[in-house]
Amino acid sequence: MARIDFLRTAMKDITQTGSVWESSRFLIKKLLDPVDWSTATNIVELGTGNGVITKAILERMRPDARMTAYEINTDFLELTRTRIAADKRCTLSDESAELLTANYGDGSVDTIISSLPFAMMDERLQETILQQIHLVLKPGGQYLQYQYAPTKYRMITRRFKRVRLDYTLLNIPPAFVYSCMK
Ligand SMILES: C[S@@+](CC[C@H](N)C(=O)[O-])C[C@H]1O[C@@H](n2cnc3c(N)ncnc32)[C@H](O)[C@@H]1O
Repeated sequence: MARIDFLRTAMKDITQTGSVWESSRFLIKKLLDPVDWSTATNIVELGTGNGVITKAILERMRPDARMTAYEINTDFLELTRTRIAADKRCTLSDESAELLTANYGDGSVDTIISSLPFAMMDERLQETILQQIHLVLKPGGQYLQYQYAPTKYRMITRRFKRVRLDYTLLNIPPAFVYSCMK
């Protein structure tokens, strides 16, 4: 059911959503496996869609960890709210990812997990969001991002100390996964 809800909502504004299908469990595993869940207590998710990754993050998060999950599409935000069933560790926000520095101090976040569709965004917005992701992360903090093509490789990786690029065919469409450390 959630998959059909995703398709229906995504089709209303495909340029904002950037995909027509929720992420597969294979992609989610590749995206979340590199995270050090034993130390991450301040977590941010960008672009929840129907909450499929939000739920998977909550399943891995420490009981005392906190997450803010951003989603600008209000239909998706409601689907996420339903999916996570009022888990007190997660705050949902309808603000855009470009407001990260308005909500977090420099070097205050352990982990940022993003599904943002950079390829569909205006270039200045992409740069602004990436700059803010880097600013709010702690030294040693982790940034995980998936994309459907490696076209943003330079833009995503040039700010980070360590970067690993992985790939999965087991998603619609196949996806590249960036695992970056500040
Ligand atoms: C490719 S979908 C990913 C959905 C879900 N996380 C998944 O993997 O199945 C990207 C999501 O990012 C959201 N989004 C796009 N621009 C955004 C922004 N500036 N701030 C927050 N969310 C945004 C879209 O509305 C969409 O739900």
